[in-house]
Amino acid sequence: MSHPERPVFTPREVVSELDRDIVGQDKAKRAVAIALRNRWRRRHVPEHLRDEIAPKNIIMIGPTGVGKTEIARRLARLAQAPFIKVEASKFTEVGYVGRDVESMIRDLTELAINMVKHEQAERVEAQAARKAEDRVLDELLKAPGGRKGGYFAVGPDGAIAPTGGSEDREALRRKLRDGELDTHEIEIDAQAGGPGMPLGVLGGGPGMEEIGQQIQDMFSKLPGLGGGKTRRKSVTVKEAMRLLTGEEADKLVDMERVVELALERVQQSGIIFLDEVDKIALSGGRGGGQGPDVSRGGVQRDLLPIVEGSTVSTKHGMVKTDHILFIAAGAFHETKVSDLIPELQGRFPIRVELDALGEAEFLRILQEPKSSLIKQYEALLATEQVTLQFSDDALAEIARVAYEANTRLENIGARRLHTVLETVLEDISFKAPEMRGQTVQVDAALVRARLGGVLEDEDLSRYIL
Ligand SMILES: Nc1ncnc2c1ncn2[C@@H]1O[C@H](COP(=O)(O)OP(=O)(O)OP(=O)(O)O)[C@@H](O)[C@H]1O
Ligand SMILES: [Mg+2]
Repeated sequence: MSHPERPVFTPREVVSELDRDIVGQDKAKRAVAIALRNRWRRRHVPEHLRDEIAPKNIIMIGPTGVGKTEIARRLARLAQAPFIKVEASKFTEVGYVGRDVESMIRDLTELAINMVKHEQAERVEAQAARKAEDRVLDELLKAPGGRKGGYFAVGPDGAIAPTGGSEDREALRRKLRDGELDTHEIEIDAQAGGPGMPLGVLGGGPGMEEIGQQIQDMFSKLPGLGGGKTRRKSVTVKEAMRLLTGEEADKLVDMERVVELALERVQQSGIIFLDEVDKIALSGGRGGGQGPDVSRGGVQRDLLPIVEGSTVSTKHGMVKTDHILFIAAGAFHETKVSDLIPELQGRFPIRVELDALGEAEFLRILQEPKSSLIKQYEALLATEQVTLQFSDDALAEIARVAYEANTRLENIGARRLHTVLETVLEDISFKAPEMRGQTVQVDAALVRARLGGVLEDEDLSRYIL
């Protein structure tokens, strides 16, 4: 629709992108890839059908530490649509202290606004840069020779007094473009702006969040509190160009149009990843109605209309949630999907289960992802000029120990790899600054030596691993 039509990933491309970071979990990867592609398909079907096609919300179920949240994190980059991840456990029922469920729609809208604004700003960038350049040139030429900030004190062929003539200006423009003036200090009038006032203290109570937001906007428009006010400040030419280009781009972007496009985009392509849904299921079964269950049930009931399709008021306008895609995830250890209220269960027609991870997967997790833990540690220690070299049998041993610890203690999935590796490398991490220039061979023997005592002693391993 009114999207600038960017090439959208095919399901196969989405899966192969996810494969770069996440080992296994093919069913979940395929499900989210299809869901993403369906957003695009829907935008291309004949108008009369478009409104009929409801998003196929997904629920991902799987033990702790097997990649549910990781999939969401990586998906955010691939979605090419407004995408946020929220934790269901953060919400409380309307009327109680905490975030109300509708705030996720407001957050998503805010994100879409920024996304569209950014795109529009990119379009006018050349124009904005030209205007910024003129403002910088004005300042440079205004400054009397010799004064701090005056350019001509640093002229390459001795100081020349500026005449303000157009030749000077064009010569200066060339220098500016060539980056010759980058480190030169000048004074500019920059927008005071900056982050708004922290009004978090107002939180709590129904709708308070929104009221807080409105107050914040009100303040930011008042002169003296950041809105519209400029302040004279001294910066390098390079920084001045950056600040002023941003300012000019803001002026060139048509905010009304941005809001219009962003609202459209949220409603047609928005995606909300609802993590930790198991935390709002009712532990005592559906009938349970005590303590935290009262509030959990309330959050579910508040969620229902949003997932189902309703209209939420945001400061940019009304947002219809009918076509927003929801992807939920939860470990469901203590609760089951069937502990969610039936109406909500019904809104998540696609269920995918993630597999528990075994020793073989652990080994692959150490070896394959493009930013695997091993690569992270290697990079960290490289900053101390210490080279870590893991042998294959060391990785196999780490995977084995992690798996064994999960079986004997508690199954915390791939998170166990973090604790095991941390234990293995503790000593090296501590001493690295004194080991500059050294190469440390990490082999199975070293892994065993570091972990041997720990694994034997169950009490000890409970603490350490
Ligand atoms: N399949 C996997 N491939 C690569 N890394 C993984 C995989 N599963 C988990 N990890 C790693 O383990 C850690 C925890 O994973 P993640 O946060 O996705 O767990 P989760 O499934 O959301 O668990 P929880 O139910 O406890 O929230 C992350 O650092 C992640 O990189
Ligand atoms: Mg998680």
